[in-house]
Amino acid sequence: MSIPDISFPLLLLSILLLGYGCRAADIPEDTTSEFSVRLYHRLQVAGGQENIIFSPLSVAVALGMVELGARGTSLDEIRQTVGFSHLLPGVEFSLLQNLTEALSDDDAHHVIRLANSLFLQEDASFNPEFLHLIKKFFRAQVETVDFSDSAAVAERINSWVENHTESKICALLSAEDFTSVIRLTLVNAVYFRGSWKNQFRPENTRTFSFSRDDGSEVQTLMMYQQGDFYYGEFSDGSQEAGGVYQVLEMPYEGEDMSMMIVLPRQEVPLSSLEPIIKAPLLEEWANNVKRQKVEVYLPRFKVEQKLDLRSTLQELGIQKIFTSDADLSAMTDGKDLYIGKAVQKAYLEVTEEGAEGAVGSGMIALTRTLVLYPQVMADHPFFFVVRNRRTGSILFIGRVMTPEVIELNDQDFDSM
Ligand SMILES: *[C@@H]1O[C@H](CO)[C@@H](O)[C@H](O)[C@H]1NC(C)=O
Ligand SMILES: *[C@@H]1O[C@H](CO)[C@@H](O)[C@H](O)[C@H]1NC(C)=O
Repeated sequence: MSIPDISFPLLLLSILLLGYGCRAADIPEDTTSEFSVRLYHRLQVAGGQENIIFSPLSVAVALGMVELGARGTSLDEIRQTVGFSHLLPGVEFSLLQNLTEALSDDDAHHVIRLANSLFLQEDASFNPEFLHLIKKFFRAQVETVDFSDSAAVAERINSWVENHTESKICALLSAEDFTSVIRLTLVNAVYFRGSWKNQFRPENTRTFSFSRDDGSEVQTLMMYQQGDFYYGEFSDGSQEAGGVYQVLEMPYEGEDMSMMIVLPRQEVPLSSLEPIIKAPLLEEWANNVKRQKVEVYLPRFKVEQKLDLRSTLQELGIQKIFTSDADLSAMTDGKDLYIGKAVQKAYLEVTEEGAEGAVGSGMIALTRTLVLYPQVMADHPFFFVVRNRRTGSILFIGRVMTPEVIELNDQDFDSM
């Protein structure tokens, strides 16, 4: 039996401190959603026609770990940019802890694993208070390594990441990423796997043409179902027909987590919708979608991206920690500690188990003429958010410009 399932993988972020230390930070939900969206916009501007996937939560957690060791301007920049400046100093750590704990709730039907690890140079000395707090708030595992043996360190860290992401994220770092001046590397990995509450039946999946925003078409595997979801139609504020777009929220089993899909009209490129996306709008969507029957056509997709967060975070205002002026004195006494590298690799796959035999087996009859329900036909680029419905935490944000592409053979491609 195939179960439509979304297996998401994970993502991770690592920050290397050249000189001496490094750390990552966390994101509280609501307070960080603005930051999440700004990050998306930076990536979108740089991203051309590419798919995008990253985990704001993971970035926030990584930055939270860095913040714990930062002082002065280095600290202020993180608090301000991530969205903690309205909190009393230090409250963000407890918030991040609570947010991540809320996500990792074990009773759920989904699996979310957040893992944080700190790799320290064997003979360097770190502030015990920092190590204590990092374990307390981030449950970070602390290990010592010898950074001068760069190949061994890369291998060790990559294996740690692989172990915490069900092998979905491999080879995050390479030997070239390490030099003997590195004293600390922070790694944060997130893995998510959930099954749709309303699953797609694999026998309803078939090849279908997907129109990319550049006008080209690719063949993809389109899943189909008619089911109860949260749905709404929104306007970008213009009076034009093209200003209306659809929002579909599909919960995972347990209903704590969901994927929100935002789809412009067929003739409207996603890039014209993206600029209006703002943190309050995510809330508005979540609060205004209504449960109802919807016909859904969603391509299978797999998105993967490795991000250089350093330049992106600098653009957003977190600059000091990446320069020799960094003040990470709460980590060590050494003053010459700064963050040399910040990387995140994220991967998300939306699939149906057992789909191998499903292609071309024919979609159930589509009673097109009798459609009584709204139809969400994701046969062109869309934006998505995977979030916790209770806390608002954003586990993933991304867009699909090109879904999983399949080669055409002699199957039929009836359009529906
Ligand atoms: C986190 O949870 C603890 C225990 O429930 C609570 O005391 C604390 O105030 C919470 N922190 C924040 C920032 O909400
Ligand atoms: C990864 O898991 C394997 C097998 O469980 C274990 O031998 C290895 O030590 C783990 N690596 C890390 C870095 O945790």
